Amino acid sequence: MNTSFNLNALLRNNIRKIKPYATARDEYTGVALINLDANENPYGSIGNSKNNRYPDPHQITLKTLIAKMKNVSISQLFLGNGSDEAIDLLYRAFCNPGVDNVIICPPTYGMYEVSAATQDAECVKVDLTPEYELQPERILSAVNEHTKIIWLCSPNNPTGNLLQKNHIETLLCQFNGIVVIDEAYIDFADEPSWITRLDEFPNVVVLQTFSKAWGLANIRLGMMFASEAIISAITKIKLPYNINGMVQEFVYKTISENAADKDKMVKDILQQRDKLSQALMQIPTVQKVYKSDANFILAKIHDAHNLYMYLVEKGIIVRDRSSVKLCEHSLRITVGTEEENALLLKNITQYVKQ
Ligand SMILES: Cc1ncc(COP(=O)(O)O)c(C=O)c1O
Repeated sequence: MNTSFNLNALLRNNIRKIKPYATARDEYTGVALINLDANENPYGSIGNSKNNRYPDPHQITLKTLIAKMKNVSISQLFLGNGSDEAIDLLYRAFCNPGVDNVIICPPTYGMYEVSAATQDAECVKVDLTPEYELQPERILSAVNEHTKIIWLCSPNNPTGNLLQKNHIETLLCQFNGIVVIDEAYIDFADEPSWITRLDEFPNVVVLQTFSKAWGLANIRLGMMFASEAIISAITKIKLPYNINGMVQEFVYKTISENAADKDKMVKDILQQRDKLSQALMQIPTVQKVYKSDANFILAKIHDAHNLYMYLVEKGIIVRDRSSVKLCEHSLRITVGTEEENALLLKNITQYVKQ
C-alpha cells in the first residue's frame, strides 16, 4: 500500500478545476415523448442506418457488462478509443507542458514517447536490463519532484516478456505518482492481471484492449482500470462521445454471445506461438528466440535487416527492430495462423540456403 499518494496534488491544477461538458443527454435523463434537445436529424439517417441519435456518452450498458466480466466496479473502468486514447488522456491529466516528466523503460511501446512529446512532457529513459527486466532502483533514483507517471508494459512490446511482479510492486509502493501497467497482451500470458489488485494500490492504472486477443483492432476500444478517483478525473476530460454507438452495441453483443470464441483464439495463438518458437530455434541464422508471454516473438538473427528485406520481397512483413537499443539484430514476428507461420518458416529456410 502506498500511503503517501495524493491524487489531488498530482493532477494538473486546470484539470482539477474543469467542469466537464454536459451533453443534452446529461441534462435530461428521463424518457421523453420527443427529443428536440441535441440538434439531431429527426427524419433518421441516410442509408436508413439508425445513426441519427447521439450515443450514450457514459457507455453505461457496455461498461456494466465489461465491469462484470472483469470483476471490477463500473466506477473503476474507463473506455477509450483504443488504449492509445487512455495513454493520451493520462498525459493531459497529469503532465504540465514544459514542466513535468515521465519515466519510460525502453525498449518499449512507442506511443508513451510520442504522447509525451505531444504534451511537451519530458520522457526520462531508464533502460531495461539486457535480459529485459526492470531496474527499479535506477527508476526510483531518476524520479524528481516533477515526475508524474512511470510507464510499464507487461507483457512488454517489443520484447514479449512479463515484467517481474516484485519489481512492479516496489515501484507501486515507493513511487508517489501514477504507475501505468499496460497489459495490451495480458490474455496471452500465464499470470493474473494487475486489475485483481486495484484496491491495494491507489496509484495503479492498468490498460487493456480489445485489439489483440479479441481480434477487434479495427473497432478501437481500449480499457483503463484504476481507482474511482483516477477514473473520474480522466472521464472529466474525455471527448463527450468518444465511443461511438455502433461500437458500443457491437461489443456488447460480441461479449454476450461470443466470449468463448476469444478463449479459443487465444488457445490457438498460444499453440502456434510455441510451434513457431521451436521451429525458429532450429534455423541456423536465428541466434536466439526470446521467451514470449504475448502474441509475438522477438528473435535475434545474424543479419536481421537482410532477412527482413528478403521477406518483404516475398510479401511477408515482420517488424525490423534492429535499430532499437537492446534489440539490435532482432525481428519482431507476430504469431500468424498455422498456414502463415509455415510460409514464413519456409521462406526463412530458403533464405538460409541461398
Ligand atoms: C503495448 C501496447 N499498448 C497499447 C497498444 C495500442 O492498443 P489499442 O489498439 O487499444 O490502441 C499497443 C498496440 O500495438 C501496444 O502494443
